[in-house]
Amino acid sequence: MTAIVIAGAQWGDEGKGKVVDLLTERADVVVRYAGGPNAGHTLVVGQNAKVVVRLVPSGILRPEAKCIMAQGMVVDLRVLCEEIDALAARGVSVEGRLVLSDRAHVILPYHLEVDARREGAATDAARIGTTKKGIGPCYEDKAARRGVRLGELLDPTLARARIEAACAAWAPVLVALGGEAPDPVAVLAAVRPYVERLAPLLGDTSKIVDDAIRAKKNVLLEGAQGTLLDLDHGTYPFVTSSSATAGGACTGAGVGPTRIHGVVGLVKAYTTRVGGGPFPTELHDALGARLRDVGGEFGSVTGRPRRCGWLDLPALRYAARVNGMTAIALTKMDVMTGLDRLAVCVAYDTPKGRTEELPLDDLATATPVYRELDPWSSALEEARTIEDLPAAARAYVTLVEEALEVPATLVSVGPQREATIVRGDPFASR
Ligand code: GDP
Ligand code: IMO
Ligand code: MG
Repeated sequence: MTAIVIAGAQWGDEGKGKVVDLLTERADVVVRYAGGPNAGHTLVVGQNAKVVVRLVPSGILRPEAKCIMAQGMVVDLRVLCEEIDALAARGVSVEGRLVLSDRAHVILPYHLEVDARREGAATDAARIGTTKKGIGPCYEDKAARRGVRLGELLDPTLARARIEAACAAWAPVLVALGGEAPDPVAVLAAVRPYVERLAPLLGDTSKIVDDAIRAKKNVLLEGAQGTLLDLDHGTYPFVTSSSATAGGACTGAGVGPTRIHGVVGLVKAYTTRVGGGPFPTELHDALGARLRDVGGEFGSVTGRPRRCGWLDLPALRYAARVNGMTAIALTKMDVMTGLDRLAVCVAYDTPKGRTEELPLDDLATATPVYRELDPWSSALEEARTIEDLPAAARAYVTLVEEALEVPATLVSVGPQREATIVRGDPFASR
């Protein structure tokens, strides 16, 4: 039995979709454990066939895999139906292999409106730069114990009572933000057709995952977002509202920690961030623009240009620690080819002195200390073994492994499945 967690090590968009899709070749069950349609996971089949999934697990293109949307997620029913339709249009059926937790919380129209109005009202410095998908307000309702769970929508009387209570709670907030009090009848009418359509997909997903692990199947627990966006461990308050780190897989999927065998940390060869908040190694110059252009760093959900910068080793060591990483998947190495200059952050200068730890609470004022490295100029896309890489690129991989004390089991050199150097078996990562 092998259950492994795939967790982003940075601020999201590390290439989780590609790696989950690749590993699903050997997985029986793929489970999304947190977040909602704020995620955008890109899957590339062949040279150009690109699919972006936001809610459905990234294993969906492999017909043999069962895909689970677990109870740690927040689900926008309209987005999910659109996603299922888009997959069907590509010949991918979710029939009989997508199961949706009846305990996942539902994103309702007032969540979207509060999110958008708050972002609109915030000052530039305070604006989180959310995806405006209603994520924060939906998780707020969950924590306030007035959220609406998917299974509850099947009972019209219960659904009405819960939506009425939530509408009453959000009414003053929306009015203060310049909106109108939400109408529970309209909210119920808006979700009804989606509920009817999705009802057959609901199930007790925690049990399904546990059964699979007991039956010694390979289970992939797919995280969304990344460590530095995690509600507890990220750059608070510039974070998302869920547990993106590996620990979130246990609560989000409903499996105990003793059932997890390894954690693959997704590390992009450079750093990106979309939205507000501190980003000490950000490049505001032509190098940053080059990483964005060559790496195609534009949000897969919102289309926003992603902020780009150098790799941050103190941040990655932190991510290795809080996730308990047992393997690294290092992605987008090919994007680093041909740079005039190559540097990584190895430490920080802070008012308290130099530190190799991530100064999480002082990030806005900490100054990165860089180590200059030798760049390389040859293309990496065709590399299939580590020996195929130029010496400088190999040294880069080794530097990351040594800094984190975790082996880079996968090295990705292009968006396609086959553009990957596989150096070990992530399902045997411990
Ligand atoms: P996720 O949210 O972590 O799944 O990442 P996204 O899909 O939002 O963003 C990653 C982007 O990089 C996508 O466009 C992928 O197709 C692409 N990608 C993934 N791995 C590689 C790689 O090794 N090289 C290149 N050039 N692109 C990659
Ligand atoms: P994947 O899974 C990158 C960011 C938003 C914003 C903050 C809060 O594709 O890696 P939210 O809408 O969640 O309340 O926004 O989190 N964010 C992401 N950034 N990748 C993601 O997902 C993200 N999901 C949320 O840009 O800064
Ligand atoms: Mg993404």
